[in-house]
Amino acid sequence: MRAVRMAAFGPPSTATIEDLPTPEPDEGEVRVAMRAAGVNYPDLLVMTGAYQHKPPLPFTPGKELAGEVEAVGPGVTRLAVGDRVMVQVEYGAFAEQVIATEGQCFKIPDGMSFVDAAAMGLVYQTGWFALFDRARMTEGDVVLVLGATGGVGLATIQIAKAMGAGSVLAGVSTMSKAQAARDAGADHIIDLSGENLRDSLRDQVMAVTDGYGADICIDPLGGDPFDAAMRALAWCGRMVVVGFAAGRIPVIKANYLLVKNIEVSGLQWSDYRDRTPERMIDAQAEIFRLYADGKLTPHVMDRIPLARVADAMAVIEERRVTGKVVLEL
Ligand SMILES: NC(=O)c1ccc[n+]([C@@H]2O[C@H](COP(=O)([O-])OP(=O)(O)OC[C@H]3O[C@@H](n4cnc5c(N)ncnc54)[C@H](OP(=O)(O)O)[C@@H]3O)[C@@H](O)[C@H]2O)c1
Repeated sequence: MRAVRMAAFGPPSTATIEDLPTPEPDEGEVRVAMRAAGVNYPDLLVMTGAYQHKPPLPFTPGKELAGEVEAVGPGVTRLAVGDRVMVQVEYGAFAEQVIATEGQCFKIPDGMSFVDAAAMGLVYQTGWFALFDRARMTEGDVVLVLGATGGVGLATIQIAKAMGAGSVLAGVSTMSKAQAARDAGADHIIDLSGENLRDSLRDQVMAVTDGYGADICIDPLGGDPFDAAMRALAWCGRMVVVGFAAGRIPVIKANYLLVKNIEVSGLQWSDYRDRTPERMIDAQAEIFRLYADGKLTPHVMDRIPLARVADAMAVIEERRVTGKVVLEL
């Protein structure tokens, strides 16, 4: 089988395509024939060696895929050959065949394409746990989503709207992409590209919420957008740290939390996958149910052949992405 390989940590252009032996599933594992694989910002971090968990070299990158179960190991009870599944793994998804535990597989609803399924794992789960576990979103909340046109951003906007947020505000840096955030359901666009973000972000949020502010901010950016968004939270607001795409890890002054009665929490998606797989199965079932009901629709901006993985990663690296890029066989 063909697989993307990294012999050393480095830019995606150093990835090669190699022929590897067909892997055999062990106890509790299945082998999935990959049809589509979602590309994520964290893949870039893993390939360059900047991610918190570094795979042993050489390795196959990729955290999610969709395909068909083609072999089942001993002790597997929930899955059978022929089942259509979406799969979440730590790494290894960018290959024609992938070994996964039963718990890492989520059955795909009838009628859902492999491409859509591969785009509805990691980023939707991240948005789900950020909104409901970390930020305790309830109906009517005002939700500000930064990095709104990226994978996590668009998914989070859609989920917040589908689950009854009162108002969803999309923080957008590249204004030419703003329509994608509107299409995902954002009620207002917050322009992050202007001068003096510290004031301009808060002014915009206060203007569209009649001076109320945001109950929740989901932040995949860090840096200046994080600092500015902290000033736009409502009383008892909740900020969720998801990532640092803007490049700087912010520092928080504790007195600020006290004075404004606000809280800041962090979200690490993979911990839910590894520590509470049953919660992830429930969350993914809800996400797929909302898809089947027409309330969530992944925004797949491009489908690129597996062998052109470097081109797919370049879309992420060069900030050209809107929503998701998916690799296909
Ligand atoms: N904690 C977790 O479990 C978890 C899970 C998934 C992802 N993440 C992290 O979340 C972040 C976003 O992931 P993603 O999949 O949504 O990435 P993505 O699809 O590449 O989107 C990134 C977004 O960030 C914006 N952006 C990029 N550089 C920026 C900058 N310098 N200043 C302001 N905005 C910038 C882009 O908007 P413009 O195009 O408008 O600039 C884009 O909307 C990454 O840091 C990723 O590692 C964390």
